[in-house]
Amino acid sequence: MPRSLLVATCATLGLAAGCGGPSTSQPPAGAAGLAAAPAATPEVTALQAQAAALFQPLPAAVPGTTDPAAGAKVSLGRMLYYDARLSKGGDVSCNSCHGLDTYGVDNAPTSSGHQGQKGGRNSPTTYNAALHVAQFWDGRAADVEAQAKGPVLNPVEMAMADAAAVEAVLRAIPGYAAPFAAAFPGEAQPVTFDNMALAIGAFERGLVTPSAFDSFLGGDVAALDAGQLAGLKVFLDSGCGSCHNGVAIGGGTFQKLGLVKPFETADIGRAEATKNEADRFFFKVPSLRNIEKTAPYFHDGKVADLDAAVRLMAEHQLGRTLDEAQVAAIRSFLGSLTGTVPAEYVARPQLPEAT
Ligand code: HEC
Ligand code: HEC
Repeated sequence: MPRSLLVATCATLGLAAGCGGPSTSQPPAGAAGLAAAPAATPEVTALQAQAAALFQPLPAAVPGTTDPAAGAKVSLGRMLYYDARLSKGGDVSCNSCHGLDTYGVDNAPTSSGHQGQKGGRNSPTTYNAALHVAQFWDGRAADVEAQAKGPVLNPVEMAMADAAAVEAVLRAIPGYAAPFAAAFPGEAQPVTFDNMALAIGAFERGLVTPSAFDSFLGGDVAALDAGQLAGLKVFLDSGCGSCHNGVAIGGGTFQKLGLVKPFETADIGRAEATKNEADRFFFKVPSLRNIEKTAPYFHDGKVADLDAAVRLMAEHQLGRTLDEAQVAAIRSFLGSLTGTVPAEYVARPQLPEAT
């Protein structure tokens, strides 16, 4: 919509100056009253209700971490996540491609694994991934526990020969015996490949990043500034929420990339995993949480710029052309999805010595 229309949108929301402006998550100095003003209007309350029907706030952790040994599993999983000895070259860990201090990604189009080899897909973030309906761009792993076995044995990622090779490495590190025994009590030989994956999964279930949008969904209508509110309205009115919805603002369904207008890619997506032709070019709808921090975009990492990704989505998924003001508004809203990284939870732990 033209700028005048966006201003009209702002007016229906009862919003003052700053609405639809450039993407900033902080109101400018001296504009402290701005955030408070929208809170008062019934339109903003209605928008909040509309959003609360489509999205849910993040839980403190994704269910699955509640068994008595969960604390021990989580701390073991944290060590394993950072341990490059789980790779053939001893130099690649989960954290190499999913850096927890860089929003769970490596910001590269495709990642470098064993001996610098590149895979064909972009590394998605591990933050909030446990909330998804399934793992990987094509959903070929059911959950984070099942997923964690993949990269360790993937020849272009961590390249270990097989499960037995991983177990040999872990059993040769004496300092892992006690953490595995605490995490899997009562097992005669707890140091197994399967238990490695269970522990990493338990750790990943705590990788959640609550944001201003969660506060908004929780009822704090002043948590979003005027520009973000206007952006939320454009996002909803454009139809983005028909696919990017739920607790992860995505992650809940598989959809065809190029639904309305074909999208150029050699990757057939989910069809490769399911061998079902009907799944051709279907991909898991990505979560939009922390999207400003996880460039480049799409399964192949070919789009570096978030504005361009938003425009492509409108065109190929919805058959719409967004103008600059609409793109800027959506960008402002997407900024409200940048959450707080749990710094203490993800702090690199001391890894057990080799001897
Ligand atoms: C060499 C880089 C690399 C390493 C090392 C690596 N990953 Fe990944 N990871 C990727 C790529 C690329 C994908 C997407 C692949 C696909 O969808 O086919 C991915 C996907 C994932 C996903 C799915 C997220 C989603 O939104 O679907 C999770 C979870 C994950 N990795 C966790 C891990 C864990 C845990 C480890 C360590 C055991 C690990 N990764 C090691 C590159 C890597
Ligand atoms: C019909 C479903 C659908 C609709 C509608 C839709 N998307 Fe998407 N979106 C997807 C899928 C599927 C992908 C993953 C594409 C791929 O494989 O790279 C995606 C990817 C994205 C990405 C890149 C995410 C990443 O991590 O690389 C962004 C950003 C995005 N969408 C934003 C939007 C916006 C903004 C709108 C509204 C203008 C929108 N989407 C509408 C299905 C949809």
